[in-house]
Order: sequence, then structure tokens, then C-alpha cells
Amino acid sequence: MPPGRRHDRDRRPPAAAHLGRRRRRAVRGGGVKSADRVLDVGCGTGATTRIAARPASRGYAVGVDIWEPLLRTAQKLTAAEKVANAWYQVADARVHLFPRCGYDVIVSRGGVLSFADPAAAFRNLARALMPGGRLVLVCPRSRSGSDRVRAVLDGWENVEVEKYDRVRLVTADRSRRAPEVD
Ligand SMILES: C[S@@+](CC[C@H](N)C(=O)[O-])C[C@H]1O[C@@H](n2cnc3c(N)ncnc32)[C@H](O)[C@@H]1O
Repeated sequence: MPPGRRHDRDRRPPAAAHLGRRRRRAVRGGGVKSADRVLDVGCGTGATTRIAARPASRGYAVGVDIWEPLLRTAQKLTAAEKVANAWYQVADARVHLFPRCGYDVIVSRGGVLSFADPAAAFRNLARALMPGGRLVLVCPRSRSGSDRVRAVLDGWENVEVEKYDRVRLVTADRSRRAPEVD
């Protein structure tokens, strides 16, 4: 390898920093505004939830995850980082009764590839997104990622998929998917 290339590689940030930067860019790409209500699905320990909560200074971000111990860690990290408008709830995205039109932005980092049944989860989530809301799916632009994104969006009306760096940014109008009756 030419010396220059080795030098460049050695100067790359550690993987964790790189991932963190991508995550921040994804959430910023989703355009979280100050009054937005954000739902982070499959939030894990809440790193994305906290990133989304900061620009939503007059709104809030709620992280949901199926695994409660992760949320306890998320709470602790949120308190340590003094993020006052982020909180967490145990929920299975496939079946949880999310508030109808309760969110302006739904973000999920890793959910599309790691949920057991992402199509069921995102079908259920459709009711929770405001018409014209944004769905931000952070997943690799691999073939399996593409297949999963397609499956997740199956049946969502009026979706526009934008590529955003190595993530998929989806602008969604979920109005026709939302059940008429709660
Ligand atoms: C790949 S991790 C991503 C965690 C986090 N978003 C991040 O970027 O660090 C996927 C998360 O989804 C959660 N999960 C899996 N199935 C779920 C479901 N049906 N409903 C809610 N969360 C789920 C897992 O417990 C796990 O924390």
C-alpha cells in the first residue's frame, strides 16, 4: 500500500466516533425542528433519542424498545447528559398502541435490519406519524437493507425515499394507512 494511503487510514476516527457522526447526520437529515415530537423505535440505550431531543427544544423525543434493561441504561445516560426532553418506554413496535398522529418524526436506527418482523412493526407505526411527517430509517445501503426498506414501506402511501449518505431518509405521508378508528 502506498505510504500516503496508510497514513490516511491511520488518521481515520475510531469506529465508534464514525458511527456517532453518521447517526447525528442522519437525525439532522431528518430535519428535527424545535417543536417536533420524535419517536425513536428500537432505541436501545437511547443515543439516537438524545440526538433527536436536542434540536426538539420545545418538543421532545420518546425512545421505545422491547428490552427493558436497555432503557434503564438509557435513562441513566440521559440524566448524566442533562437531556431534559427525552424519555423512554418499553414497547413492542409490532403491537404497541401508539398515539394516532402522535409524532412528527419517527426515527429508527438499526430497526429495519434487526427487528424480527420489521414490516409488522412499521405497519403498526404508520398510525403514529402525522400526515407529511418524516420517517428516518438508518440502515446500510446494502441489498438486504434495500429489500427490508421496501418491505417496511410496502403499503405506505406517498412515500419519497431519499438517499442520505449511508442512510435512507424517507419522507412519508402516512395518512391513508392510518386506521379510521382507534
Ligand atoms: C440494532 S439495535 C439498535 C439500537 C439503537 N437504535 C442504536 O442505534 O444504538 C435494535 C434494537 O431494537 C430493539 N427491538 C427489537 N425488536 C423490537 C420491537 N419489536 N419493538 C421495539 N424494539 C425492538 C432491540 O431490543 C434493540 O435494542
